[in-house]
Amino acid sequence: MKKYFLFFILCSVFFVMIFLQLDCSPKKMTNEELIAKGKQLVLFGGCNDCHTPKMMTAMGPVPDTTRLLSGHPANQPIPQFDPALTAPGKWVLTDDGSTMWFGPWGASFTANLTPDSSTGLGAWTLDNFIKTMRTGKHLGSGRDLLPPMPWQGIGTLNDEDLTAIFAYLQSIPPINNRVPNPIPPSMPSDKK
Ligand code: HEC
Repeated sequence: MKKYFLFFILCSVFFVMIFLQLDCSPKKMTNEELIAKGKQLVLFGGCNDCHTPKMMTAMGPVPDTTRLLSGHPANQPIPQFDPALTAPGKWVLTDDGSTMWFGPWGASFTANLTPDSSTGLGAWTLDNFIKTMRTGKHLGSGRDLLPPMPWQGIGTLNDEDLTAIFAYLQSIPPINNRVPNPIPPSMPSDKK
């Protein structure tokens, strides 16, 4: 009887160990699952609000999905405005597509996040993307990213989430659109 009892205990321990083993081994996501998760994070993170040009409707601007995440359109004229409006304590201005922003930092234009190799993120590695989001510097060591790019929040995501976002961005159609360089604070008036 004692023998059977010992055998029963050993079997139970064995099955519990197998069960734990099965339960603990992390399930690896397929590429499709990773991209789907990245898409959800991009929608939730509001990337389209700033990086996708808009179409104006009676209910306000809606993302133009034919230009998904392609950044500030290169051919859009920069509107005239009085730079005194964006002095500290006054206004931050954006155009009706919210791809162009004016503030005390000058003018910033949202980047092309599509995988176009010369004007988008086509030549970026995952490491480039993660370092940029974590440090707020271009490619992790270049110039500081300008407002209102919310890298401070995006950079708190874990590696798996940032990997998913990057996988999604690399999966969308590439769009050739060379976004203008930022304009320092003293210069927007020169455009008048
Ligand atoms: C409130 C507006 C806004 C939102 C929301 C936003 N961005 Fe940006 N983003 C910008 C602006 C403006 C720039 C250009 C900054 C500059 O030129 O320094 C930028 C630049 C970038 C760059 C280029 C950085 C570089 O070094 O060239 C990447 C990559 C990027 N954003 C990714 C994202 C992702 C991913 C999301 C969503 C999770 C997102 N952004 C949400 C405004 C925004």
